[in-house]
Amino acid sequence: MNTTANNGREFPEGFTWGSATASYQIEGAATEGGRGPSIWDTFSHTPGKTLNGDTGDVACDHYHRWEEDLGHIADLGLDAYRFSIAWPRVQPGGRGPLNPEGVAFYSRLVDGLLERGVKPVATLYHWDLPQELEDAGGWPVRDTAYRFAEYAELMARELGDRVDVWTTLNEPWCSAYLGYASGVHAPGRTEPAAALAAVHHLNLAHGLGGRAIRSVLPDAKVSVTLNFHVARPVDPASQADQDAVRRVDALANRAFLGPLLEGAYPEDLLRDTASVTDWSFVQDGDAALIRIPLDVLGVNYYSTALVRTWDGTGDRSSADGHGDAAGSPWVGADDVEFVRPPGPYTAMGWNIDPSGMTETLLRLHRDYPDVPLMVTENGAAFEDTVAEDGAIHDDRRIAYLHDHIDAVGQAIDAGADVRGYFAWSLMDNFEWSYGYDRRFGIIRVDYKTGERTWKDSAHWYRDLVSGNRLPE
Ligand code: NOJ
Repeated sequence: MNTTANNGREFPEGFTWGSATASYQIEGAATEGGRGPSIWDTFSHTPGKTLNGDTGDVACDHYHRWEEDLGHIADLGLDAYRFSIAWPRVQPGGRGPLNPEGVAFYSRLVDGLLERGVKPVATLYHWDLPQELEDAGGWPVRDTAYRFAEYAELMARELGDRVDVWTTLNEPWCSAYLGYASGVHAPGRTEPAAALAAVHHLNLAHGLGGRAIRSVLPDAKVSVTLNFHVARPVDPASQADQDAVRRVDALANRAFLGPLLEGAYPEDLLRDTASVTDWSFVQDGDAALIRIPLDVLGVNYYSTALVRTWDGTGDRSSADGHGDAAGSPWVGADDVEFVRPPGPYTAMGWNIDPSGMTETLLRLHRDYPDVPLMVTENGAAFEDTVAEDGAIHDDRRIAYLHDHIDAVGQAIDAGADVRGYFAWSLMDNFEWSYGYDRRFGIIRVDYKTGERTWKDSAHWYRDLVSGNRLPE
């Protein structure tokens, strides 16, 4: 990589620049085209679960405006677009034959991307589980992993080699712990043991799903996207605080990296959670099923965490940045205290710390040197304002993106094999329990009219992409 003081930072030739979205967050048309309900429909329609009672019923209306959105993707000059397939749109009850109308939507989207020279990066599961599968037990139940594999195979047959990269799961940490332990995400359950069973069945779904895709498409590039937690000790000299870091790392990172890449759950994770579950849902042979060769590992990175072991005095802080919850997502780690890290912060209340990006990429490169990495999400919500002339001068978002892309460059300089970067998000969208209140887009969405307006960050990103160079 070539870095000069006045000229910014060049990225390696062939580096993939993209932007990302997810089905429930943008599509709307929740009851159209034969789509069945998902756990997010049920959850968002339950009073009190989302800010202002917002739902994904209409969202960005991307289901109807997909062609216009393809135009924005093309105008941005993106090399790739990361989207997700709504399982309940293509297989409404989560089992049985596909719904042709749902499949046709993604088929048109993929063709539209290819026609514009944009590589489709498809995520099969970005949290919208068919409600019928939740009614049958959801991710804590083993059969859900088999249902996922069936769905993955059917979609691989339909979209075939038109998809450049297949991502099985997006952030299984959120699906398992926020969905089944803290309850801030759908389905909103607060059952710690079920959350760990969900961890395992999500890992199993990845392995079975990846195998199913390759059974149809032997050359398919298969990936999974994880959200890594960079936890730092409040007092680096304290053994107890270092132990809090270790426990968070086990629950958040190694609970996935272990089985997915090393073929086993970490011993310390099993020990730390022994009072919650005996892990008897792990069956003989599962380890081999889960660990499949990964063509690329997706990395979502936003912020860092500051932790210590609670000494039992005063109020225990739980500022882990994942919202107010009935339960804790930190299963078996009740005495781990999340302290608010130093700012500055985004509108999510998350601290801005690009060094965590470099640290994550270098750690993964050190531990798994043969696995190429791709930053599949990074970005920030800020309170955007629309100027008199209609422009959105989102300088803080530009600064955030700049500094994090620079941090990716630093990791590449230090040897990490990072193949691409996807800005989250292409457009403002339904930010889960925060509804439409938190805007992550580089394109603004006016939810009253559906109108899309490029923010300054979109113009800035287009220039970066076209030059393959991060400006000073
Ligand atoms: C991670 C998730 O994958 C995405 O759905 C979410 O909107 C962003 N992070 C921002 O919270």
